Amino acid sequence: MIKEFKIDSVTLKNRYVEGPMAGFTDLAMRTLAFEHGASLAYTEMISANALAYGSSETLDMVKDTQKDIGPVALQLFGSEIPNIKKAIAIVETYGKYTFLDFNLGCPVPKVMKQNAGSHLLKDLDYLYTLMKTIVETSHHPVIAKTRLGFSNPEDIVNIVKTLEAAGVKAIAIHGRTRDEFYLGKPHYDSIAKAKEIATVPIIANGNIDVSNVDKVFAKVKPDAVMICRKALGHPTIFTDLLNHEEGKESVVDSFNNQKTLLLEHLRLEAESSHNPLKSALQMRAIAPTYFIDFPYARQMRTALVKCQTLSDYVAVLNGVVNPESLSGENNGRANV
Ligand SMILES: Cc1cc2nc3c(=O)[nH]c(=O)nc-3n(C[C@H](O)[C@H](O)[C@H](O)COP(=O)(O)O)c2cc1C
Repeated sequence: MIKEFKIDSVTLKNRYVEGPMAGFTDLAMRTLAFEHGASLAYTEMISANALAYGSSETLDMVKDTQKDIGPVALQLFGSEIPNIKKAIAIVETYGKYTFLDFNLGCPVPKVMKQNAGSHLLKDLDYLYTLMKTIVETSHHPVIAKTRLGFSNPEDIVNIVKTLEAAGVKAIAIHGRTRDEFYLGKPHYDSIAKAKEIATVPIIANGNIDVSNVDKVFAKVKPDAVMICRKALGHPTIFTDLLNHEEGKESVVDSFNNQKTLLLEHLRLEAESSHNPLKSALQMRAIAPTYFIDFPYARQMRTALVKCQTLSDYVAVLNGVVNPESLSGENNGRANV
């Protein structure tokens, strides 16, 4: 029996969640995650300021959630309370989502300069005021995605207490501090300490996949786990995790399976695109990840990053009749 987990009064059908990735987890990628078993998927981070100032491109990200085929956490980022209040009114009018998530983890200078993302972990009094306002303004359950702290991983305990006091209903924790960016091993022990004192569900995040998920569940005892980079080019990771939970073998990737998945990703992207040129450029980062574990990854990347339109990708993929004809050492994990 696959275990479920619950946030507030909402039951999620399993404990495998696709986390937010700016530039990647758009409607197409979320749809693939749902098709392959994810119980919850996050939008990319959406700027509260941009919504408040009327950006139509940002509003499109919100409207896209109306077409999601599974439960969505819509993630906002920002720091200014008046703009965040305006943004919540906008997402409630134009979006369709299950949870309102707030970003407390983004480490990039562009976001930090706005006092947003992980900058908010520096002042827990302000964090409390901000999150309480969000909880009071939102008609959806509010959840948060945080790092362990700004510099000190031990700060997570006080961060969790602050978020709970403000009324947040679940917390996803990336097991690194802001200073660690994406480097080094995640501190699962610090997430475990947070879980010990938490009264709301904790979603563990950072370098999790089938190979270590048992260890993470055993050590951290999270309510669920969040997968991000390992889902890039590999939406079937959610099926793999579900199979693993039931003691079944994962399906070994084949070139043809990966090609079919990427063609589906391209089809979904074309169907939901607001700007075909932008979508084609975005796929330059996504398409090569489908072949990253294959011996001919470099050749596929070289061909795919030249694509100018979504149809170009389809032409490249359909042109590769025999993947063995692409030279390269067969030292990847995948079978052809
Ligand atoms: C390209 C990229 C974009 C990201 N964008 C976001 C974002 O929009 N919001 C957020 O909370 N975290 C974002 N993250 C952080 C991830 O959600 C996640 O916490 C981090 O990648 C660690 O998980 P992983 O090891 O499973 O990838 C991003 C990460 C990457 C690599």
